[in-house]
Amino acid sequence: MSNTANRFLQSMIAAACVALASSSHAAELTRDNGSPVGDNQNSQTAGPNGPVLLQDSHLIEKLQRFDRERIPERVVHARGTGAFGEFVPSADISDLTTAKVFTPGTKTPVFVRFSTVMGYRGSPEQARDPRGFAVKFYTEQGNWDLVGINLPIFFIRDAIKFPDFVHANKPSAVTGVQDANLAFDFFAHAPEATSMLTRLYSIEGMPDSYRNMDGYGVHAFKFVNADGKYTYVKFHWKSAQGMHGLRPKDIPGSIGADWNLMTNDLYGALKAGNAPKWDLYIQVLKPSELDAFDFNPLDDTKVWTGVPERKIGTLTLNRVPDNYFESTEESAFAPSRMVPGIEPSEDRMLQGRMFSYADTQMYRLGANFNQLPINRPRVPVTNNNQDGAMNFGDRKGEVNYEPSALNELAQNPRYKSVQTPLAGTTQQAAIRKTLNFRQAGEYYRMLPAQERQDLVTALSGDLNHVTNDANKYAMLSYFYKADADYGTRLARATHADLTRVKSLADKLVEN
Ligand code: HEM
Repeated sequence: MSNTANRFLQSMIAAACVALASSSHAAELTRDNGSPVGDNQNSQTAGPNGPVLLQDSHLIEKLQRFDRERIPERVVHARGTGAFGEFVPSADISDLTTAKVFTPGTKTPVFVRFSTVMGYRGSPEQARDPRGFAVKFYTEQGNWDLVGINLPIFFIRDAIKFPDFVHANKPSAVTGVQDANLAFDFFAHAPEATSMLTRLYSIEGMPDSYRNMDGYGVHAFKFVNADGKYTYVKFHWKSAQGMHGLRPKDIPGSIGADWNLMTNDLYGALKAGNAPKWDLYIQVLKPSELDAFDFNPLDDTKVWTGVPERKIGTLTLNRVPDNYFESTEESAFAPSRMVPGIEPSEDRMLQGRMFSYADTQMYRLGANFNQLPINRPRVPVTNNNQDGAMNFGDRKGEVNYEPSALNELAQNPRYKSVQTPLAGTTQQAAIRKTLNFRQAGEYYRMLPAQERQDLVTALSGDLNHVTNDANKYAMLSYFYKADADYGTRLARATHADLTRVKSLADKLVEN
């Protein structure tokens, strides 16, 4: 090619690049088809005083898109805050699990969503409410979601009670306002909630920042190793920032000062380069050890007292997502999203959760929600799930079934779920060894004097809204049964008859 021709070609390429560059970060507004909008301030009208024209397709598209901006909010945990980060293991636990997220030397990207539970999407972040601590690990074996909260236990132990628990604690079906009277109408019939209520009304239940709280997986899960042996495991995120909460006397001022305290605190820290960290600890039990306790270790209302914790890694958050809707709102966490080496235990609550999350997400976000960038695994997805609204999975080929001699989808699975011995018949019965009150008392007695007083102040504040006498006395009897001093102080603070509280507590059987 001559020099002249060469120069001509180069100048053509340069001109094309300039044109492309200027159109791609065009300051110009476009419609959804990419064509220029032109005038975005004046609708097309029939003359100076006539009506707006149907042919103004930009106006129509703009209004239509606006009209469809909202999707259903999460049925619980609607108010949330997301952040990106990474998880780095710190110990070799290959004797316990084949999950590669724990292989020393790996670094796994994560997305974390913190939340409150009962409030609506725009509700204040300072509420007497557990805090969601949901972690999505984008591992090389697919996504693992550890969907936990900031407390080590839960209110109830059977998924069949969850919708009722939520109805009673969410804003009233009549007024749209949360009502302690309804909440305690439920709890008066759920003595297993005594421990969780005690923690919720303590300072641990009122963190002043997402950075200053721990997180827990709550349930027991199974770790499965390369020999197909399993152990039961509980997860605990320990805040490197330390735990800090609001005392009852400081709560009104804090809500008044900033409704969005938790988000502003977290994003403020991230933007300042002050990356918060949590160390991950586990407790481990062999299947043969489950019966050694006087409670059921697969009951999510119980902590595993006396079982040592060991550190296995560190989570660091370092980035504010740049689009709230496409990350925090469209993120979908589910306890059922596990990876080889991690499996569900037989915990009755966890078993219900195994179904509920992906189900609600198909309703909230649509059948193909796993293809959204925030939810998409960082490894290829290879299966014959197909089509459906808004599918962009890009699966190829006409062999959309299996087995087949025509494609190479694995027909010799390398991975099977672990074998667990089972016993008994089908049944509908409460678990044995409920032990509803003892751990609440142990927790109460562990608190320093000031925190005990604050707990009584906070809890009696809500119990004083209970108008139904039987419910009020039932609640007081549970706390009295947990610890006589605790129950006595609550009875005084709610102007209750202590003799009646005691005689009800005497009838409660701890078994
Ligand atoms: C059977 C009991 C439970 C059921 C049926 C249930 C159901 C749900 C549902 C339907 C959602 C909304 C999910 C979405 O729209 O993406 C949700 C969110 C959530 N749940 Fe549960 N839940 C249960 C118990 C628990 C427990 C025990 C914990 C804590 C260990 C928990 C922690 C969370 C968290 C953190 C979120 C928010 C996840 C996010 O940030 O998107 N839930 N739950």
